[in-house]
Amino acid sequence: MSIKNQLMSEARNELEKSILYYKGNPIGTVAACDPKMEAVNYDQCFVRDFVASALAFLMDGRPEIVRNFLVTTLNLQSREKHMDCFRTSLGLMPASFKVESKDGQQFLSADFGQQAIARVAPIDSGLWWIILLRAYVKATGDISLAHQADFQTGIKLILDLFFLHRFSIFPTVLVPDGAFMIDRRLGVYGHPLEIQVLFYAALRATGELLLPENDQYIQSINQRREALSHHVRSYYWLDIKQLNKIYRYKNEEFGEEIVNKFNIYTESIPVWLTEWLPQDGGYLIGNLGAERMDFRFFALGNLMAILSSLASDQKSQQIMHLIEQRWHDLVGYMPIKICFPAVEGTEWRIITGCDPKNLPWSYHNGGNWPVLLWMLVAAAQKTGRMELAHKAIEIAETRLSPDQWPEYYDGINGKLIGKEAKTYQTWTIAGFLVAKNLIANPAHLALISFEENTDS
Ligand code: GLC
Repeated sequence: MSIKNQLMSEARNELEKSILYYKGNPIGTVAACDPKMEAVNYDQCFVRDFVASALAFLMDGRPEIVRNFLVTTLNLQSREKHMDCFRTSLGLMPASFKVESKDGQQFLSADFGQQAIARVAPIDSGLWWIILLRAYVKATGDISLAHQADFQTGIKLILDLFFLHRFSIFPTVLVPDGAFMIDRRLGVYGHPLEIQVLFYAALRATGELLLPENDQYIQSINQRREALSHHVRSYYWLDIKQLNKIYRYKNEEFGEEIVNKFNIYTESIPVWLTEWLPQDGGYLIGNLGAERMDFRFFALGNLMAILSSLASDQKSQQIMHLIEQRWHDLVGYMPIKICFPAVEGTEWRIITGCDPKNLPWSYHNGGNWPVLLWMLVAAAQKTGRMELAHKAIEIAETRLSPDQWPEYYDGINGKLIGKEAKTYQTWTIAGFLVAKNLIANPAHLALISFEENTDS
């Protein structure tokens, strides 16, 4: 067997070991199978982590486990619970769940944030669940599952959470800190790109999954999707031209037809940015609100914006161009940094609350996460930048197996294995398999990508 095939079979074996069984049926994968570290909650199946596993299974022609997962999590979907003073809203999907036993009987318990570190609730779970349901339908052609009454209700309950009456006037979703992959305090509260992009992808997916009789929902979905797309495309986009505009903004403007709608102060443009932005590149900024632009580059948001076509074809090319031009900063020794740059010094103290796990250039604060490899490869494929996909995979191939499939890497260029990284992290393994499967069969891209539409 060639070394590359050996690597694939090693990854497949490791993924197999991570499968979680409930009453004899495979229903998910645990977050990590690290033999040396205490599991804490890594012995649970996280909804967002399972997406990589699910894609790997779908691409390998094993849809049953994905179907079981979708059914299981639908049954766990919150029907409004009160625990202590914490309340989970109707329709919320859990961050994770685990199989427990009592008196010889297995049962499932779900964590909606009531047990999670810092009590963070997942906003991304329901969105990923919808995106995954569409991937399952694409892979199997089994639309009847999505059309079942309980699935239609589940989808609508998730949408209700996002369509709630609220104070915000933006079409974007207002989010607390730590509500998605970055599940700790990192200044990602407000209107973080990651959630807006997943929301957009989920809206597009629901358009394909809901039965036509849900015309009220379909109307709301279309309206929100268009408004969201217009908002993100107009106000989150940054390239040299746009930066020049922001640099010359006037402040304290009032009224509808003003230029500086969010009252951004020029002084808030970080010094590194002007040097860093390549002439023909661009990206969607991390967050936007009153007097606030978070200029950090977030990989998941930008890559999923390409895949969901929230970024137009031309802007997608510019994002890939930026990744190419700033390869050493964003990819370095492991694809790809979760965000760039890290927050340091006083900013780190204030923004993270002095979190030692999120030290500068570590973990969520500028660490490199191999799970994001699959998104990078898929985005490269969608934009016809295959040389970048191959280059990224080559890096992962040389390091992941000898390093025992770590959860994340640290350092300015991702050279170090993450300080507290688990080994045999399932989404690292699955992400690698998905990336390789995409290369082997480009048709798989359809599971996770959306064609460009005519949104303004
Ligand atoms: C960490 C990550 C989170 C992931 C979990 C399990 O908490 O921040 O995104 O879901 O580990 O791998």
